[in-house]
Amino acid sequence: MAVFLVILLCVLGLCFCIALLKWNEVKYRKKGLPPGTMGWPVFGETTEFLKQGPNFMKNQRARFGSFFKSHILGCPTIVSMDPELNKYILMNEAKGLVPGYPQSMLDILGKCNIAAVHGSNHKYMRGALVALVSPSMIKAHLLSKIDDFVRSHLSNWDGKIIDIQQKTKEMALLSSLNQIAGVDSISMSKEFMPEFFKLVLGTLSLPINLPGTNYHQGFQARKNITGMLSQLLEERRASGETRNDMLAGLMNGDENNRYKLSDEEIIDQMITILYSGYETVSTTSMMAVKYLHDHPNVLQELRKEHLAIREKKRPEDPIDWNDYKSMPFTRAVIFETSRLATIVNGVLRKTTKDMEMNGFVIPKGWRIYVYTREINYDPRLYPDPFTFNPWRWMDKTSDSQNYFFIFGGGTRQCPGKELGMAEIATFLHYFVTRYRWEEVGGDKLMKFPRVEAPNGLHIRVSNYD
Ligand code: HEM
Repeated sequence: MAVFLVILLCVLGLCFCIALLKWNEVKYRKKGLPPGTMGWPVFGETTEFLKQGPNFMKNQRARFGSFFKSHILGCPTIVSMDPELNKYILMNEAKGLVPGYPQSMLDILGKCNIAAVHGSNHKYMRGALVALVSPSMIKAHLLSKIDDFVRSHLSNWDGKIIDIQQKTKEMALLSSLNQIAGVDSISMSKEFMPEFFKLVLGTLSLPINLPGTNYHQGFQARKNITGMLSQLLEERRASGETRNDMLAGLMNGDENNRYKLSDEEIIDQMITILYSGYETVSTTSMMAVKYLHDHPNVLQELRKEHLAIREKKRPEDPIDWNDYKSMPFTRAVIFETSRLATIVNGVLRKTTKDMEMNGFVIPKGWRIYVYTREINYDPRLYPDPFTFNPWRWMDKTSDSQNYFFIFGGGTRQCPGKELGMAEIATFLHYFVTRYRWEEVGGDKLMKFPRVEAPNGLHIRVSNYD
């Protein structure tokens, strides 16, 4: 009898689950929507998406084509893997395709954050940011700061085992902090770092504000970080000193007296700069170390380029703009690393009204995942796509590559692209001219071509000469 009851309960449970899935599919079976599955009510297909990663996308594409519907991260979502359509979506924010990042991200990064503002507000905040990170600013001010920081960050590694993932993360964050407020940031950097790491984690979590959740901790971290940055701002104002850093630029506007910002906007801009360049610059730097280790011929060519620059200088001379501009192979290594490791899988948009696209109607408020990852492995664009081959970039620039979306596209294309490149190039310059290295752990955890090294990639470092 008991066995019969258990079987009955199992069958009923199964029927209930099937009915729930069916009901959810029917709910979204509106005429005009693209094909796809919606998974469970509320949770959708989030678990499969998070567990299977890029394989989830590949499987769904095999079933439904390059434009399909799903329900991920709490929101009905259209996934677009079609290169032409992706380009169209990125180019047409003005038609109502605005950024669609999760609420947790917007809450924690602040309401003046660049991803939270649209239209003329976006133009204004972006203009203020571009004025700080443009190539002319890199040439005049930022490159020497980056050089100074990286040179000291990479000192005394000889004979040590280094967790390169950890070191590149610290580098990306502390180098940005140094560009924002120079020496004024040094005293707070120790306290700042763990709060910033909590903030990053919080932006990628479910927005459940209960003690112990990543979202809650991220929110607390935002409070602490805004407190520290407000203090920095007040002290600078009280000192009356004129400095040549990003904070001064944010407080005073540009040389034409444009871009006057409120204190809240200044703080959110600082958080934007720190956040946007963090994962991107650190992961690209770490992956370059990994690929260079695995491809000694590439390392040899890269070293040749940097030793030639060093030969013309005294050991204490920093690299300047002309040096940076004479690193074509380094740029190729950075592009190839970004392509093969796919640092950014895609970007998120949402519809502000019902929109017709690709013959379908996308309802207002739906998210669109502009998934650009697969383009990086398209053999028509990149012959032998899974081979790390920087030479493929030597006769073209990333801009001439119509479908290279590593830095996004359209009105939201990364304004920090050149700054990020300069940081990674400076890191590579000092790393390969000072050191040789071997892997001693963590590499086995790295999956090809996208890499996860939860315990860090450890290398044993020794002086190059
Ligand atoms: C290798 C390094 C980098 C990569 C791969 C990268 C990638 C990207 C991508 C794909 C986007 C588009 C996001 C979207 O369309 O929603 C973006 C936007 C952005 N990036 Fe970067 N980024 C890098 C470095 C940096 C740095 C160093 C900064 C520092 C200023 C920065 C600041 C920004 C900002 C502020 C935006 C938003 C632009 C807007 O909404 O108008 N990025 N980045």
